[in-house]
Amino acid sequence: MRIARTLTELRTACASLRADFGGLAFVPTMGALHEGHKTLVREAVASGVPAVASIFVNPLQFAANEDLSRYPRDEAGDLAALEACGCSLAWLPDVATMYPAGEATTVHVSGPAERWEGDARPGHFRGVATVCTKLFGQVRPDRAYFGEKDWQQLQVIKRVVADLLLPLAIVGVPTVREADGLAMSSRNRYLNATERATAPALYRVLGSVAGMLADGRVAEPVLAAARAELAAAGFAVDYLALVDGPTLAPIAAVAPTEAAGARLIATAKLGPVRLLDNVGVG
Ligand code: PAF
Repeated sequence: MRIARTLTELRTACASLRADFGGLAFVPTMGALHEGHKTLVREAVASGVPAVASIFVNPLQFAANEDLSRYPRDEAGDLAALEACGCSLAWLPDVATMYPAGEATTVHVSGPAERWEGDARPGHFRGVATVCTKLFGQVRPDRAYFGEKDWQQLQVIKRVVADLLLPLAIVGVPTVREADGLAMSSRNRYLNATERATAPALYRVLGSVAGMLADGRVAEPVLAAARAELAAAGFAVDYLALVDGPTLAPIAAVAPTEAAGARLIATAKLGPVRLLDNVGVG
């Protein structure tokens, strides 16, 4: 696996991989790689063109009160994991490369970036959309892989690529879970033993609510009961909502025709950790 730390090194390495193999698949990450990221890299490798993965903890997607300085970092471990997954090139830019002096351009997304995480974390999706647009411009991949775990992020990136006519496909990859159902996340390491034992209830409740809403019944009473159940288990529920999958607009009930597109999304805090999860309905 090659490692690029400057834009010149990246461009040289990408040009030679592209010349040899005819395309590139890309996995953007913030490091602290777990099985979910490894699955994205393996999918990228399986696509038949070389995989490029970036590791960049993006300051623009963290608010001042968030955990940027505490975000877990393990460069040596991450590089070993990428190599073991068959990644061809690791891209490790520094902040000055991603945000050059005098920078004055960001990517603001409305539509699917409004509500939910957009409300809870003002500026977050502007940071994600901006850094991904820059990374796409640097790597120039044919396709890029994102986990469904961050469902809203995946829809925001799809919207950016469609709206800015960027020449790549976005591939969503199903959430990778621990054996007890907890969605893998770099932040799970901050759960204490009691919180860790409680955490899988979020996915269990989502699964049972999804089952109840699939027949088209009015969602709100079921959602309200589920929020109460999670609160009783110790979660501070931020939101639990039934939405249209691509637009994230709330829906009152699953219509038979939209069953495949409806999504149940949730964010709930356990101790210091905000857990995000979502499931399809129907
Ligand atoms: O999902 C993430 O890890 C980040 O939001 C991403 C897509 C790498 C952008 O910094």
